[in-house]
Amino acid sequence: MKAIAVNRTGEAGRPHLDGSDNDTIHLRTDVAEPSLEEHPDGRGVLVKILQVGTCGTDREINRGEYGQAPPGNEFLVLGHECFGEVLEVGPKVKDFKPGDLVTATVRRPGTGVLDRMFFHDMTHDDVYFERGINLLHGFFCERIVEHESFLIKMPGHLKEIGVLSEPMSVVQKGIRLAYFMQQARFPDFHPRKALVTGAGAIGQLAALALRLRRVEVVVSARTPGPHRKAELLDHIGARYVATEGANMAEVLESEGPFDIIFESSGSSRVAIAEAPFLLAKNGVCIWSSISGGDGKCEVRTDEINQAAVLGNQLFFGTVNAHLIDFERGVRDFEHAMEHFTGWLPQLLTNKIDLSQATDRDAPREIIKPDRDGVKAYVNLV
Ligand code: BGC
Repeated sequence: MKAIAVNRTGEAGRPHLDGSDNDTIHLRTDVAEPSLEEHPDGRGVLVKILQVGTCGTDREINRGEYGQAPPGNEFLVLGHECFGEVLEVGPKVKDFKPGDLVTATVRRPGTGVLDRMFFHDMTHDDVYFERGINLLHGFFCERIVEHESFLIKMPGHLKEIGVLSEPMSVVQKGIRLAYFMQQARFPDFHPRKALVTGAGAIGQLAALALRLRRVEVVVSARTPGPHRKAELLDHIGARYVATEGANMAEVLESEGPFDIIFESSGSSRVAIAEAPFLLAKNGVCIWSSISGGDGKCEVRTDEINQAAVLGNQLFFGTVNAHLIDFERGVRDFEHAMEHFTGWLPQLLTNKIDLSQATDRDAPREIIKPDRDGVKAYVNLV
């Protein structure tokens, strides 16, 4: 079976297997067909992969900064944002049938107590298992077999945007936890203004989710508009402000303070040294970007500390998503289709068709950055 993989082994930060620092993303044709027998409880589901989304994490894995291949493997099949169609189900499968459209969660349970309670997105374990990222092969192949408990059904009318489910789930988890914790802390919690940092797919989806909750939204990123990302935000009533690389806290001083900050800029400086200065008293800051490098900067720690304590502020990190976040994402997609008709499909800016590809280097296109693009996705079949 065809698959897109990287040469990856050992711990993150170590060089690629072939000793090079170069891109090792490649097409292979020797990946074993998955089998329903992999799930002896009879609850396996065979899925034909229709589309797989790509993101910065794939680029980091390709560069060797992050992720590991499954033990004993010299390559890792990439892909953690999938959308597919059920081909066949095991004898004990209850909730799926051939023809159903599905997406899958990314992380799989380890051994910890929370993992056993199906909260593996919040695992206490140091080692985590994520399809296409860490220790498990991903979805960039023609077919997968998955246990039904990790699949989510997508309604047929969301077929066009099903591949956005995984990034949406990450957004949903951050917002769900922020609202949950704020409602516990403040009986009158009623956010008015939010700031989203970063205008990529996560930033756009976070802006959408907050607009659907009737929050006023400002989105900041570096590049001055007009451009596609700013126009998209305008369509959902969010306002784009460019920082042009200047200190975000200074550029946005007159816009703030914000009751919610959804941080998805990819810059630890923005997250740690700048965003806190824009957070309102009693506000919540959701850190969602994973900055893979070793960046350093000066931080006005006394001021941040004092405002956080005197202002009852909440800062928290969030990664991955629970099954319920995928389900909440489906609900928001449905609302968005109603309120902002035609908007979601416009996030799918770059379609990469590898269905006919035979060249080993063909997948390199996937990791090429495109500043104007929002979400790239790949057709492999
Ligand atoms: C994925 C998450 C994953 C995280 C850390 C992100 O790109 O969307 O599902 O948990 O990387 O590996």
